[in-house]
Amino acid sequence: MDSPPEPDYGKDLGDRFLDTAKSLISNAETRHHLLATYARLRATLPSHYHPAPALTKTIRFHDRSLPLTVGSPIFLAAGGNKTAESLPAFAELGFGGITTGSATLDKWDGNPHRPRVSLLPLDRAMQNSMGLNNPGIEHIAKEVDRYLGRCHKRKMALGISVTDTPGVTDEEQIFSEVETTFRRGYGAADYIELNLSCPNTGNSRLDTNVELLGDILSHVMDIRRTLAPRKAVFVKLSPDMGMKTLESVLQTVADSGVTGLVLFNTFPGDRSKFLHMQTAQENFLPLAESGALGGVSGRVLYQNTLPAVRFIRKQLPHMAIFAAGGIDHGEKVLDLLEAGADAVQVYTVLAYRWNAVIKMNRELLQAMKSHEIASLDGYAPWRNN
Ligand SMILES: Cc1cc2nc3c(=O)[nH]c(=O)nc-3n(C[C@H](O)[C@H](O)[C@H](O)COP(=O)(O)O)c2cc1C
Repeated sequence: MDSPPEPDYGKDLGDRFLDTAKSLISNAETRHHLLATYARLRATLPSHYHPAPALTKTIRFHDRSLPLTVGSPIFLAAGGNKTAESLPAFAELGFGGITTGSATLDKWDGNPHRPRVSLLPLDRAMQNSMGLNNPGIEHIAKEVDRYLGRCHKRKMALGISVTDTPGVTDEEQIFSEVETTFRRGYGAADYIELNLSCPNTGNSRLDTNVELLGDILSHVMDIRRTLAPRKAVFVKLSPDMGMKTLESVLQTVADSGVTGLVLFNTFPGDRSKFLHMQTAQENFLPLAESGALGGVSGRVLYQNTLPAVRFIRKQLPHMAIFAAGGIDHGEKVLDLLEAGADAVQVYTVLAYRWNAVIKMNRELLQAMKSHEIASLDGYAPWRNN
């Protein structure tokens, strides 16, 4: 059965300016760095962005982790601010939260090849094979320590995504690294994301090695039991799991007692034939010497994100859910909140829409009005289904 058409957006003057900027600055990584510069510039303007009161919500957790009060349910996904740069300025872009990182134990340069990012405009998608470049947990946690209060004043929550160092296969070392990065990140941030599903590092993915996943999660949750206050711990999954694997991963995650799930990471590019894409796989740019295609993000993922959130919400009614993958319109945000997400995370849309999140906040408000929803606080219709 064909899925219903997705809510769409026309191009305004700002989007055309963005297209011109993309044609002038061909290096996608350089363009990415301009995001924080742009946020800082906006922060110097006399009028600041104020979130609409109707979008403010407090996200409460079943395990009594500290709740998050945010001015918008739209967060910046991990990878969008890998260095935790200029955090408070991102409030000017309309975000209600930021997941910084992913952070490894030490500074990590990521994959050596270039380019590591490529746009697939036909699908409003992106391929990336950054390989988890980041300045290390200490740097990121220090920035979060420094700016958490200012971000809270702007109703923005801060999370840190932590991960194991690419290439490390020794399980004891993985445990010890995850423990150290988790402890440091936990001390600083409002919530933690465990990124065990990066398709770009050449490692076997930990989120499909169910036994190891279970061991890591129970280790992390044992540590959390010794720490106060209690904060939310999320696990980020990959979108390409078959039903059998997904079911056993969900069981493992539920047994571990983690607070929530981030659904999902990028989709492995080598398996993109499973996505309904207009770009043929032979037109993808190889993003590694091996010819590997990196991870695909953007609009094409949404066809999977919404039904997966709906399905997983039914399986795990208590689990918190952050939805990510192809969310590029405010109506999609409302659909996901209706389906069971507590908040959403976006990244690739920033490459296609100028002031994307401010626009999406506006579209979300509009969609709420037409569904006669006065406020997002406490909005969880899936609880009654
Ligand atoms: C360039 C790039 C870098 C990313 N880096 C990370 C990362 O370091 N850690 C992580 O958990 N996810 C990372 N992601 C995945 C995003 O957080 C998100 O899950 C994915 O892109 C789907 O959302 P989108 O379609 O809105 O981009 C990255 C994505 C992109 C495009």
